[in-house]
Amino acid sequence: MASTRPMLSHRGAEQLGEGVVDRVVLTPEQIAARVQELGAELARDYEGLNPIFIGILKGTFIFMADLVRATPIPLEVDFLAISRYGPTTKTQGVVRILKDLELSITGRHVLFVEDIIDTGLTLHFILRTLASRQPASLRICALVDIPRRRLVELPIAYRGFTLEEGFLIGYGLDFRERFRNLPYLGLLSERLLRASGSASR
Ligand code: IMP
Ligand code: MG
Repeated sequence: MASTRPMLSHRGAEQLGEGVVDRVVLTPEQIAARVQELGAELARDYEGLNPIFIGILKGTFIFMADLVRATPIPLEVDFLAISRYGPTTKTQGVVRILKDLELSITGRHVLFVEDIIDTGLTLHFILRTLASRQPASLRICALVDIPRRRLVELPIAYRGFTLEEGFLIGYGLDFRERFRNLPYLGLLSERLLRASGSASR
């Protein structure tokens, strides 16, 4: 696994200050290598199918940007923006769609690109909402899977990494809208976690 020392000296990360992460969980190099593998697999599986890759804003924007460049086949990209009513576990994943898809997914091969699947409730709700549009196929690609926190069953076709507990930040993932610009995935520091009560998402 990655170094146990926070990489706060990493270029681009210094300005975030001390004590933001307790541990680097995945380095930029480890993420990049896995994204290349996922892209190669997707290119094989979706060759000739002209898929639509769909991401949920804002958490997926960095993963999506890297993943599509690692997938050298014709494909299209679209995004959904949602708003949460509160912590996932309280709302059962019910969200409001703030920005719907611009593309029609009817009869199309759809790949849902997710940053992290935790309880699974958010994605479960969104997939239920979109199922009525009758895509030709619908699969899930998640950068990070945290199966121990799963509350609802979800078939994950493509998985970057399986991780255990902890609140992750960086590579698009935020804590209270900050730290998306960290180039690695890190474990949010206990100090910040304690100061905030709990990491509500
Ligand atoms: P879920 O509905 O619990 O699966 O998670 C919903 C969303 O919460 C994810 O897509 C992420 O955007 C966010 N999230 C879940 N776990 C984390 C985490 O550890 N760090 C940052 N964001 C998270
Ligand atoms: Mg997300």
